[in-house]
Amino acid sequence: MTTLEPDPAWSDTRGRALRDLRISITDRCNFRCVYCMPKEIFGQDFVFRDRSELLSFEEIERLARIVVARGVTKLRITGGEPLLRRGVEDLISRLAALRTPEGEPVDLAMTTNGSALAVKAAALKEAGLNRVTVSLDSLREERFKAINDVNFPVARVLTAIDAAERAGLGPVKINTVLKRGVNDDEILELAEHFRGTGHILRFIEFMDVGATNGWKLDEVVPSAEVVERISARYPLEPMAAAQPGETAKRWRYVDGSGEIGVISSVTGAFCGSCTRARVSAEGQLYTCLFAAEGTDLRAMLRSGADDEYIASALTAVWSARDDNYSEIRAALAPGNRRRIEMSYIGG
Ligand code: GTP
Ligand code: 5AD
Ligand code: SF4
Ligand code: SF4
Repeated sequence: MTTLEPDPAWSDTRGRALRDLRISITDRCNFRCVYCMPKEIFGQDFVFRDRSELLSFEEIERLARIVVARGVTKLRITGGEPLLRRGVEDLISRLAALRTPEGEPVDLAMTTNGSALAVKAAALKEAGLNRVTVSLDSLREERFKAINDVNFPVARVLTAIDAAERAGLGPVKINTVLKRGVNDDEILELAEHFRGTGHILRFIEFMDVGATNGWKLDEVVPSAEVVERISARYPLEPMAAAQPGETAKRWRYVDGSGEIGVISSVTGAFCGSCTRARVSAEGQLYTCLFAAEGTDLRAMLRSGADDEYIASALTAVWSARDDNYSEIRAALAPGNRRRIEMSYIGG
C-alpha cells in the first residue's frame, strides 16, 4: 500500500485541519431516546440500512489508515449504538494497530449508551480501545426509562460505567443532554453522584440536530446556569483545555474531587476550532453535524480507486469546507433545512 505523507496544506477555508474522524458503524440502536430516535418515526416500520450497505471493517480500516496518514489523531466509534455491530472488537483491533506518521497510535474512543458495555468492556480494552463515553440523561429509574423509551433500567448503565473503568477504559466520560423541564432538576444530583468517582460528567446543551427531535430554544439549559448551580454547592474553577478544539469546557471541584465538563454548542459555539468530520455507517462523509449533504466514500472505496485518489478526493472536500452552523444558527430561518439525524451520524 502507498505511504501517504502528512499534508500540512490540508486545511479548510477557515484554516481548520482535519484531526478527528468520527465513524458511525451502525444506524441501529436498542434505545428509542425521545429526543433522538422517537418511536413515532423510528417504529416497527422504519427501514434501517441493510448489512451490505454498511462499510465493511476492511473499508473502515482503509479509510482510517488514509486519514491517519494525513494528520488525523483521534478516531471515535459511534452509532446508533456501536456495540450492536457484530464483531466490533475486530474493528477496534484493526484501528488500534494504525500509526500516525510520527509512529504514535491514535486516540481511539467510543460513544455508547452502555447497555452492552458491562459484557464487552474487557474485550474492547483487550482489542485496543482507549476510552469510552457513556450517554446517561437521568439517575432516576422511571425517568431514565421514559427517556430511553424501551424500559431499560438505569442500574445496568451504572454497572457498565464501573465495569468500563475497571477494565481500564477510563476515565469514563458521562454525557448528559439537558432539557428544560425534563431533567434539569437533576443537575446537582448527577454532579453529586459522580463527584469523587474519577468519572467525568459532561452536560450537553440540547441541540437542534436532525429534523425529528422537536427542538425549541427555550428547552436549552445554558451551560453557564449549570456551572452556577453546581458551583453554589460545590465550588468549581475553570481548567485549561486538554487539547485545542475540545467540545467541552472543563471545570474542576476546588476541593479536589474531580472535574466536570459543559458542552455549549448553542450558547457558545465552538465551530472556530472544529477539526471534526463524520462518516455514516454507509460511508457518507459529513463535514458538519448539521450538514444536509455528504460525500459518498463507499462508492469511491468500492470503485477500485487507489489510496492516493481517495486521499485527494478527501482533501478536495475538506479544502472546500466552510461549515460553522452553530455560530450562525440564530441568523438562519428555522425549520427550512433538511439535516441528517443524530442517530445516523452518532453525535
Ligand atoms: P473527547 O474530547 O475526545 O472526549 O470527545 P468529545 O468532546 O468530542 O465528546 P463526544 O464525542 O462525547 O461529544 C459530546 C457531545 O458534544 C456530542 O454528543 C454532541 O452532542 C456534541 N458535539 C460533539 N462534536 C460536536 C460538533 O462538532 N459540533 C457540535 N455542535 N456538537 C458536537
Ligand atoms: N443535542 C445534544 N446531544 C444529543 N445527543 C443526541 N441528540 C442530541 C441533541 N439533540 C447525544 C446523546 C449522546 C450522543 C451520541 O449525542 O446523548 O451522548
Ligand atoms: Fe439514545 Fe444514543 Fe440510541 Fe440515540 S443513539 S436513541 S441518544 S442511545
Ligand atoms: Fe463543527 Fe458543524 Fe459543530 Fe460547528 S456546528 S462545531 S462546524 S460540526
